[in-house]
Formats: sequence, structure tokens, C-alpha cells
Amino acid sequence: MEREDGYIDVGDPKLYFTEYRDWAPFEQKAMEFVKGRVLDIGCGAGRHSLYLQQRGFDALGIDNSPLAIKVCRLRGLKKAEVMTIDEVNFKPDSYDTILMMGNNFGLFANFRKARRLLKRFCRMTSKDALIIAGTNDIYRTENPAHLRYQESNRRREE
Ligand SMILES: C[S@@+](CC[C@H](N)C(=O)[O-])C[C@H]1O[C@@H](n2cnc3c(N)ncnc32)[C@H](O)[C@@H]1O
Repeated sequence: MEREDGYIDVGDPKLYFTEYRDWAPFEQKAMEFVKGRVLDIGCGAGRHSLYLQQRGFDALGIDNSPLAIKVCRLRGLKKAEVMTIDEVNFKPDSYDTILMMGNNFGLFANFRKARRLLKRFCRMTSKDALIIAGTNDIYRTENPAHLRYQESNRRREE
């Protein structure tokens, strides 16, 4: 997590290297809905793409971090590219599943960008394609550092 006021929390990086058996049940369940050609947006160290590749799926992982993509390749992901979510733009009918796991639905950043990119994703995918995404309600926190930040944002908006 990186806030515009300089707050950075890396959490526990081990999470990004976990195997399917260690994932939360909802993440394991989500994999049952994956079909066809997969685009994994913000793939991190590639845990979902690697899992799917092992099961015969054609999965491309993209991430804006060159080091994350290097890690994916070192871990054996055959298709991994440095790309930001804004640059994602493939020809029509290129994918059947778009994965945005690990709270990555938040990568849209705001509603306007979400609308623009979701329209593009619709053009790039097959008729019955799915977006499988995780997200996080940032307002459901008891962390005083976040509560203070939210309060100062509210005051800024007044
Ligand atoms: C919370 S991690 C999730 C990683 C992976 N999906 C997982 O669940 O293990 C978010 C990932 O999105 C990448 N990311 C952040 N901003 C991005 C952007 N604008 N475009 C593409 N990837 C981005 C980060 O580098 C990071 O690897």
C-alpha cells in the first residue's frame, strides 16, 4: 500500500509467493470460474498465473513493476510482460478471463478510469468473458493511521 502522503506498508511479501493450498478459500473458489485465455492484471510474483499455467491455461501476467515480471519469469511463467493497467489494450476477442486478484480492482484508481478501462476490457474479450477480481473496502479499518488520513481527506473536501 502506498498513499499519496508518503505512507507505505508492504504487508507480508510472503503472501505473494503462496501456493494454492495456502490461499484464502474465496481465492481458491475463484479459480473454478477461470476459462480460456487469461489476462492477469497486476500479477505480482505470478501466483495465480503460475497456478493456471500448470493447469494448461494460456495465461499472460502483466505488471507495471519490471522486477515483479522478472520474478514471474524466474518462477517459470512463460508469458509475463511489463505493462501498466492503462496500457492494457489488446485486439478484440483476445481473452476469456481477466484476473484482478489481490485487491487489484483498486488499480482503476477512480470511477472515471474504471469506466474507461472496463469499456476497453469489454472490447478486448470474448462475448461471455469474465472479470474475476478482488477488492478491499478501505473504509473498513481500525488502523489509526488510516482513520486519521481519511479524516484529513474529508476535511480537505469540505
Ligand atoms: C496487491 S499486489 C497483487 C499481486 C497479485 N495479483 C497477487 O494477488 O498476488 C498488486 C500488484 O499490482 C501491481 N501494480 C500496481 N499498480 C499497477 C498498475 N498501474 N498497472 C499494473 N500493475 C500495477 C503491483 O506492482 C503489484 O505487483
